[in-house]
Amino acid sequence: MKIFLDTANLKSIKYWASTGLIDGVTTNPTHLSKESGDIKKLVKEICNAVPNGDISVEITETKPDKVYGQAREIATIAKNVIVKIPCHKDYYEVIKTLTDEGISINATLVFTLIQGLFMCKLGVKYISPFVGRWDDIDVNGIEIVEKMRYMIDEYDFEKTKIIAASIRNVKHFHEGIMAGADVVTIPTSVLEKAVSHPLTDIGMKKFLDDWKKLGIKQFP
Ligand code: E4P
Repeated sequence: MKIFLDTANLKSIKYWASTGLIDGVTTNPTHLSKESGDIKKLVKEICNAVPNGDISVEITETKPDKVYGQAREIATIAKNVIVKIPCHKDYYEVIKTLTDEGISINATLVFTLIQGLFMCKLGVKYISPFVGRWDDIDVNGIEIVEKMRYMIDEYDFEKTKIIAASIRNVKHFHEGIMAGADVVTIPTSVLEKAVSHPLTDIGMKKFLDDWKKLGIKQFP
């Protein structure tokens, strides 16, 4: 079970990498649009900040031949780059060619089980079902992750890993774990909430208060 950080913010990525909790990063054009400075340099720095993790970098071209060329370029940025390509029918042939060439793909914007099956057949490394965007329109998003888990196990597509994406809250994080996602990619705000618990804080205070009653100056 891996945790990716869903952001392009280098400061956050460096901090969470230092905690040992994160195993990779998923960037996208929206995340990058919130950052400033040299974006190409930033992408390289993100790859260096988590050198043993997979870093998804999304294509921004639209025509299939351009997407193919851009995907190959993105793949050369660093050895841990995963090229993110939307799960759109116009790109199926491109995705197949790229996976045949050994380029690792994260198929993004996956909303149905059948789209997930198609991506498995094309040999992608990751499929990213978008949980939160389904919930946004009153559909139970986590069910798609559960169904994908069943499909991959039942039909031996183990080469493809599931990233539960579009995570909006700690409940989604919890549900992603229980649904059998291989990875949950989490915004920094959700990870910050998930690492804190008031009962842990209260328990720590009580232990320390009781300890102080002993009046011991040095221990051990
Ligand atoms: C996944 O890789 C995407 O970056 C991300 O999860 C999108 O989530 P959103 O629906 O919050 O934009």
